[in-house]
Amino acid sequence: MASQKDPGVTVVDHPLVQHKLTLMRDKERSTKSFRQLLNEIGMLLCYEVTRDLPITMTEIETPLQKMQAPIIAGKKLVFAPILRAGVGFLDGMLEMVPAARVAHIGLYRDPETLQAVEYYFKAPSDIADRMVIVMDPMLATANSAIAAVDRLKERGAKDLRFVCLLAAPEGIAKMRDAHPEVRIWTASIDSHLNDHGYIVPGLGDAGDRMFGTK
Ligand code: PRP
Ligand code: URA
Repeated sequence: MASQKDPGVTVVDHPLVQHKLTLMRDKERSTKSFRQLLNEIGMLLCYEVTRDLPITMTEIETPLQKMQAPIIAGKKLVFAPILRAGVGFLDGMLEMVPAARVAHIGLYRDPETLQAVEYYFKAPSDIADRMVIVMDPMLATANSAIAAVDRLKERGAKDLRFVCLLAAPEGIAKMRDAHPEVRIWTASIDSHLNDHGYIVPGLGDAGDRMFGTK
C-alpha cells in the first residue's frame, strides 16, 4: 500500500536550499562557510514557513492615489531558536522579519541518554497572542524539539510551527505524535539515526560545525 503523505510535514525542495544544504553536508566545509550557508538557508526557509501568514487590507496613499493594500495581520511573530545551533537560523530569519520577537530556549542533548536538558529559557510575556516559529537545524530523536514546544506551551503558546534543516524519520514520527498540530518544515528527511542518535547521512554535529568547537 502506498504510504500517505503527511500534510503536516513540508520538505522544502527549492533548488537554492538543496544546493546550499549539499555544500553544508561536505565535511571539508569551513566553519565560516557553514555558518554563512545556515544563515542563507534560514532566510529561504523563513520565506516558506511564513508563506500562508494571514493578510489583512489597509488603506494607504501612494504618490498617485489612495488604495487598499495587503499587510500581515495580527501581532508580530516570535522566533524561538533552540540553543546553540538554532541561533544559526536566527539572523537570516530576522532579516526577513525584522520586527519579530525572540524566545531563547537553551537545551542540550545528554550524550548518554539523548534526553534534552534545559539550561535557559526566556520568552516574550504575550507569547499566547503570537505565532511562534521554533527553529533548530537538526530534528534527530526529537527530544529537544518536543521539550522546547512543551516549554513554550507551558508559557501559553498556542500557535506553533517547527523549522529545521535535516530531520530523521524517527524524529518526525515522534514529534508528530507528541505535538500533532505543530507543522514541520525541513530541507531534507534523511535515512535514519545511528546508534548515537546522529542523523545519517546528516552533516555531523551542527553546533560544533557552526561554532568550531570540535
Ligand atoms: C543538537 C541540535 C538539536 C539536537 C537535536 O543540539 O542542535 O538541538 O541536538 O537532537 P534531538 O532531536 O535528538 O534532540 P545539541 O544537544 O548537540 O546542543 P548544541 O546545539 O548546544 O550543540
Ligand atoms: N544533533 C546534531 O547536531 N546532529 C545530529 O545528527 C543529531 C543531533
